[in-house]
Amino acid sequence: MDSAKPLIHLLATGGTIAGAQNAAGGYAAAVMSGEELLAAVPQLANLARIEPEQVARLGSQDMDEAVWVKLAARAQAVLDEPATAGVVITHGTDTMEETAYFLNLVLRTTKPVVLVGAMRPATAISPDGPMNLYNAVAVAADPAAVGRGVLVVANDEVHFAREVAKTNTTQVGTFKSLNRGLAGLVHRGRIHFFGPTVRRHTADSEFAPLGGTALPRVDILHAHAGMRRDLIDAAVATGARGLVIAGVGAGNLPAGALTACRDAVGAGVAIVRSSRTGGGVVERNVEIDDDGLGFLVAEELNPQKARVLLMLGLTRSTDAVTLQALFQVY
Ligand code: SIN
Repeated sequence: MDSAKPLIHLLATGGTIAGAQNAAGGYAAAVMSGEELLAAVPQLANLARIEPEQVARLGSQDMDEAVWVKLAARAQAVLDEPATAGVVITHGTDTMEETAYFLNLVLRTTKPVVLVGAMRPATAISPDGPMNLYNAVAVAADPAAVGRGVLVVANDEVHFAREVAKTNTTQVGTFKSLNRGLAGLVHRGRIHFFGPTVRRHTADSEFAPLGGTALPRVDILHAHAGMRRDLIDAAVATGARGLVIAGVGAGNLPAGALTACRDAVGAGVAIVRSSRTGGGVVERNVEIDDDGLGFLVAEELNPQKARVLLMLGLTRSTDAVTLQALFQVY
């Protein structure tokens, strides 16, 4: 090993980047280990010394709070080692944005943490994983990535955890940062960073390092024409402590559902209005009297990221004003 190269820890969790295609055209995620992914890209030795570790082995549809807590603990432990330059996490693309945003809020570090995945399995024709992995290690090993928070690298792009969303079911260009734009570009390991992210993260986050408090249950409900109140009532009745509504347009919802949300607040459940549109800001008190009803708005966070922030926020407070302030800071 070349000890002059930066030390990068690779935490592998599975996903399509570790997937194997079958003869029928389907595939299984999370088949290959982190070690096998590294072996497929020998050029990585030019960038860094890499220590792989298998933290989980799943398709990211099965990522949950328990794995997040385990992953955060392992990432924090290796980041706290003085010799570590950065961390790369291989992850399925389906829920990568949620894991990235969670880690962005709970890791106390300024060192680079980069999530990477792929849209094509490792054994497919023209897999995108090897180049994505090469670029991710290049970013994690770059001193210019220090202090930028958790990043996502795919398809020659670098995204901030807060901004990135998966927007396409199959295309390699699935990740977009629609509201505030890219963190940078990376081409065959050459990196061009753009401006820093404006919101608080990692070393400055009040949620970092992650404590032992259990994450409360927060559900997401998708609004639609004709939405009834039943599912909102059911979530409250079965123990949700918070609800994120993926509202229509600027976070709106039909009258019956709105009444159910008002009743939920009365029962002590936090309600966050977000948007199912994929872009833009949900503002307070436009068509809906948020102040009067005790609702929160997600601002630019998509429903799945609003859920992450609400879960963490509820470990500290149930006060609507305190919780709303988090959505203006993170
Ligand atoms: C997954 O999220 O684990 C499957 C899809 C992918 O990684 O692209």
